Formats: sequence, C-alpha cells, structure tokens
Amino acid sequence: AGTRTFTMIKPDAYGSGNTGAITKMIEEAGFGIKAMKLTHLSAGRAGQFYAVHKERPFYNDLVTYMSSGPIVAMILEKDNAVEDFRKLIGATNPADAAEGTIRKIFATSIEANAIHGSDSDENAEIEGSFFFSGLEKF
Ligand code: CMP
Repeated sequence: AGTRTFTMIKPDAYGSGNTGAITKMIEEAGFGIKAMKLTHLSAGRAGQFYAVHKERPFYNDLVTYMSSGPIVAMILEKDNAVEDFRKLIGATNPADAAEGTIRKIFATSIEANAIHGSDSDENAEIEGSFFFSGLEKF
C-alpha cells in the first residue's frame, strides 16, 4: 500500500549489468514494483521526457546519453515513496551521494548517474504515464 514514484535505470547502469543488483536494492528497501519495462528511448522521446531541462547547458548531452542504450522504467509503491526513494538513490552527483546509496555504488558521473527518481508526487504520475498505459499501471 502507499504512494507511488517513478524510476528509470539509466543506460550506464543497464549497460554495466547492474539492473538486477539495483532492482534487488529497491525491493529490499521495501518498494513494491507495480510496473516494469525495458525500452530504448529515441533522442526525440528522451528530449520530451527531459523537456523541463531544455534551457540547461547539459540538455543536449543528457538527451544523447539517455538515448545511447536501453533503460528500465518502473513504477514503485511504498509509504512516502518519492522522498524515501530519493534517499535510497542519493544525490544527483555521485561524488556527493551518501555511502550505501544506489548512485554512490553504481553511478559513474553527474550525467551517467545510474538511476532517476521523481522529485514530487505530481511528477511521479506524469513520468509514469509517459511510459505506461492505464492498463499497465495496476
Ligand atoms: P536526474 O536528476 O534523474 O534528471 C536530470 C538529469 O540530468 C540528472 O539526473 C543527470 O543525469 C543530468 N544532470 C543533472 N545535472 C547535470 C549536470 N550539471 N551536468 C550533466 N548532467 C546533469
């Protein structure tokens, strides 16, 4: 029971074979997986997903990176899901991430930072709906 958040295992973490290890950490932290999909974003779709960042200097590199290989999208459920998941993944820059967080363990740079987590309940709903139809979100 509880609230939902949205996550993506990013191309660096998928490509280095860490999908299983990251998913295990997510489940062991008490999150239920409500939807899950392996997919590969085109540059156009990645650009749409990150449209909120389009004026940022890192936007073009981010779009190139996020369309460079497969990602694993998931909708997760837990009490206090958005906040607790952001604690589990750690700071955006792995250099600043706390010990034991997913980004500290698996991320390689501020861009290739292994995993995404929604920053609000509203964005969790928007981002989940970007990848999953109503029928897939049981
Ligand atoms: P995330 O917070 O999931 O969504 C925005 C992404 O942009 C972020 O993860 C990083 O992958 C990337 N990003 C954020 N800040 C920077 C930065 N300063 N330089 C490069 N990439 C960044």
